[in-house]
Parts: sequence; C-alpha cells; structure tokens
Amino acid sequence: MASLTIRKLDEGVKTYLRLRSAKNHRSVEEEVRVILRELIEGREEPLTPFAVPPAASTAPVSQRTGALPEASVTLIIGGGIAAFKSLDLIRRLKERRIEVRCVLTKAAQQFVTPLSVSALSHERVYTDLFDPQSEFDAGHIRLARDCDLIVVAPATADLMAKMANGHADDLASAILLATNRKVLLAPAMNPLMWNNAATRRNVALLQRDGVVLIGPNSGEMAEAGEAGIGRMSEAIEIAAATERLLRPPVPRPLAGKRVLITAGPTHEPIDPVRYIANRSSGKQGFAIAAAAQAAGAEVILVSGPVDLGDPQGVTVKHVESARQMLEQVQAALPADIAIFAAAVADWRVANEGEQKLKKTSAGMPPLQLVENPDILATISKLTDKRPPLVIGFAAETEHLIDNAKSKLARKGCDWIVANDVSPATGVMGGDRNTVHLISRRDGEIAVDSWPAMTKEQVAIELVAHVARSVTDKSLESAS
Ligand SMILES: Cc1cc2nc3c(=O)[nH]c(=O)nc-3n(C[C@H](O)[C@H](O)[C@H](O)COP(=O)(O)O)c2cc1C
Repeated sequence: MASLTIRKLDEGVKTYLRLRSAKNHRSVEEEVRVILRELIEGREEPLTPFAVPPAASTAPVSQRTGALPEASVTLIIGGGIAAFKSLDLIRRLKERRIEVRCVLTKAAQQFVTPLSVSALSHERVYTDLFDPQSEFDAGHIRLARDCDLIVVAPATADLMAKMANGHADDLASAILLATNRKVLLAPAMNPLMWNNAATRRNVALLQRDGVVLIGPNSGEMAEAGEAGIGRMSEAIEIAAATERLLRPPVPRPLAGKRVLITAGPTHEPIDPVRYIANRSSGKQGFAIAAAAQAAGAEVILVSGPVDLGDPQGVTVKHVESARQMLEQVQAALPADIAIFAAAVADWRVANEGEQKLKKTSAGMPPLQLVENPDILATISKLTDKRPPLVIGFAAETEHLIDNAKSKLARKGCDWIVANDVSPATGVMGGDRNTVHLISRRDGEIAVDSWPAMTKEQVAIELVAHVARSVTDKSLESAS
C-alpha cells in the first residue's frame, strides 16, 4: 500500500488541508483520512470551505529558493518549569522551516496550555494516548514516525526514566518507545535530581541507546537560592542542535586548501585567424573544479577555449595558448594541490603569420613546429613553490598504462590519471570516462583502475582521493 507524505503535497493543497483541519479541530493527516472516507462514502464536504491561495504566494522560502529542505519534528513537552521555554523553541524551529507537532504530557499541561502550544505551532496538539479521534489509525505510531526527529524539551527526570526502561503508559512515552527516529533530549531538572544515581544510570543507558542530549546547562534554578547543573538549554541552542541533526553540515575536507586546476585544449595560432587545436572539451577539468569547490577548497581554474559555463564559486582564468596557460598557472602559485587536466598542445607554430597566410603559387606554406612549455613537468620540478601534491593527466590512444607510468617518472609529478582517448572510447568531448590512477605507493608504482563513470563521478572520486591523501599527510606531520 502506498504511503502519503503531507509535506510533499502542492503548497495550495497543503494550505487547504491546514485551514480545513484547523476548522475541524483535526490534525492534517486525520483530515486527509476523513476526506478520503467521505469521498468513498459519497458524502464529502464541499472542497472549497476556504479560498485556496495560489501556490506561489504560499510556498515556503525553502521551496521558492531551493535553499533548504523542509523537515518535521515531533516535540514532546514534559512537565517542568522550563516548559515555558518550549514555546520559544516552537517559534525558533518554525523560523528554521521545521514543522513542529507537539505532544504535551499530563504534567506539562500544568505549566503550558495546549491552546498556546497549538497557536504557536499552527497544528493540533496531542495529549492523550487513548484518544479515539487520532487512535482510529494508531495516531501515536504516526506521531512517532511521521517526522524526521523527536525532540523532548524539557526532558524531565521522569520521562527519561520511562524512556530508559521502555515504559509506554502515556502518549509521550509510547511515542518514544515506538519511534524509529533519532531522539534529542533537552533535560531540565533540579541539580539534585540530575545528580541522583538513578538519573545518572538512566542518562548513561539512553546515551548508550543512541539518544542525543543537549545540556543541561549550569545556572540558577527556579527554586529560590538553588543553583547547579540542571537548567534546560536555551531555545536557540536546542533549535541549533535540532538543525544539526536534521541537516548535518556537508563535509568540506578541502576547506582551507588552495587547488589549481587546468582544463580544456589550447589553441596554438598559425596566423591571426587559424590555429592548431585538439578535441578536448574541458568537461573533466571543469567537473574536478566543481568537485574541489564543493569539498571546500579555494579553486583557481585555468581554462583553454571551451564551450562551458564557469563553475560556481571558482576563479576562472581563460587563456588560449599553452604559453598563456603556463603564465596563469605560475601566477596562481602557491597552491596546495595542482591538477593538470588540460590537453595542452605539445607543439606550436614557430613561424606564426602576422597576417592571414595567403594561397600562393609557391604552394603550401611550410609550418614549422616548436615544442611548447611542458606545464606539468615545469611545476613538478619547481624547487620553491612546488605544490605538495601535483597530479597530471595522461591522454593516450595506445599502451595506456605503460605510457602513463613512464609519464609519471619523466614529469616528476605525484599521480597520473590515465585515460584512453581513442575515438572508439568517446572520452574526448563525451560525458563518461574510464580512468586509472597511477601513483607511487611504498616505493612501487601502483595502478588503481576505476570502472567507467560520468566525468562528474570521476571528479568526485578523484577529489575524495586527494582529500584522503591531504588528511593522511597532515596526520603524519602531526605525529
Ligand atoms: C512546580 C514543579 C516543577 C517541576 N519541575 C520539574 C523539572 O524541572 N524537572 C523534572 O524532571 N521534574 C519536575 N517536576 C516534577 C514533574 O512534574 C513530575 O515528575 C511529573 O510526573 C513529570 O511528568 P512527565 O515526565 O510526564 O512530564 C516539577 C514538579 C512541580 C510541581
């Protein structure tokens, strides 16, 4: 049987459901069930009790900008003085585009009312395990699982004891026992309760079970003259911890590293209108630049003439010839890592025409070629500003591995990424690549052959290797 996720529905439909469920004092899910039941039974309410605003005007910022995914939390409020801080917590979670459905224990209702919690969360509030309205389809199970995270704030000593021991005699504890979601507890209690051996045991058990705790902080208690560890963390701290669990920061293993990359072909002029070129598209180098940038590096991309947009967040230097490319590469040093993926022309025309060469009766003009600077070898053999990790590319059409191995030795770089660019492979200009990473390992030359992948996947894999090598080196130098 298919399942339905309310937050993935169109904004207009969601707004309609929210308004209709509020009017009928039901949760949104219950409202959907009632609508479906009534439709089947042929006695549905008219579907427009409220005007449905156009989707664009009601879409949350996350959907309009694509900035952040929506997330939802079941917030269990326990019976402690700090329950009043949970009202602020609801507001702060909603500010972060996190939907909040609240459950109040019986004791919590002595401190905050379901009415104020419902007004702030814009959702029905749940208080009873044996509620026929929500239990006709196991509502406590839905509260336990129809969310991305369960937050308990304040987590009372009593709630933690129940949770640690698997009790389920009220809605809050039943949800905590029935959930398969991560649970974040914000304990709040008198310092003596917090330090009591029973609480210490329960906390240790919960942590062993993978429950995450925020706080408690130390400070003054509500009770006059009492101070110590037991104050609930501030709402803003709990909201930040919630967000970290819901949207863990993307790993940025190359943060603080400067990566220099070359890409594309070079154009070597014959005269002002003609040039010698090759079929490189620049796709592989551009993909590496984007992957290194996503890994947190500062990226300088020196690119020959290509038909690609500049990757976001990358400094791009556009050049034409091999000599210009070398100039820009040298200007970009120092760098921590250099990856030379450009297909640099080996030769240029020595006698470049100042004017367009004309057809004459003397026949074809003799084009004399001279060697271009070898960017990979030049940078690999630097004595002062040599990047600690220099990676070259070997584009070969025959004897791929042997040629790449001898290139590694000849050029003095650290790794070679070898790829077969024979026309049959479709690598030049295509979207996929099959590469072999050739490096020195324990005095031997090692060859890692990767399966065929898109150029983006090759880039991500290569950047992951680079990040591991950089981390290993910094660990070595630290020890
Ligand atoms: C005024 C007052 C304040 C309380 N504050 C706390 C507290 O901060 N932390 C706590 O663990 N229990 C506190 N309690 C005790 C709980 O309310 C009690 O253990 C209750 O059974 C907890 O129920 P619950 O865990 O289902 O919310 C307080 C009780 C009273 C009367």
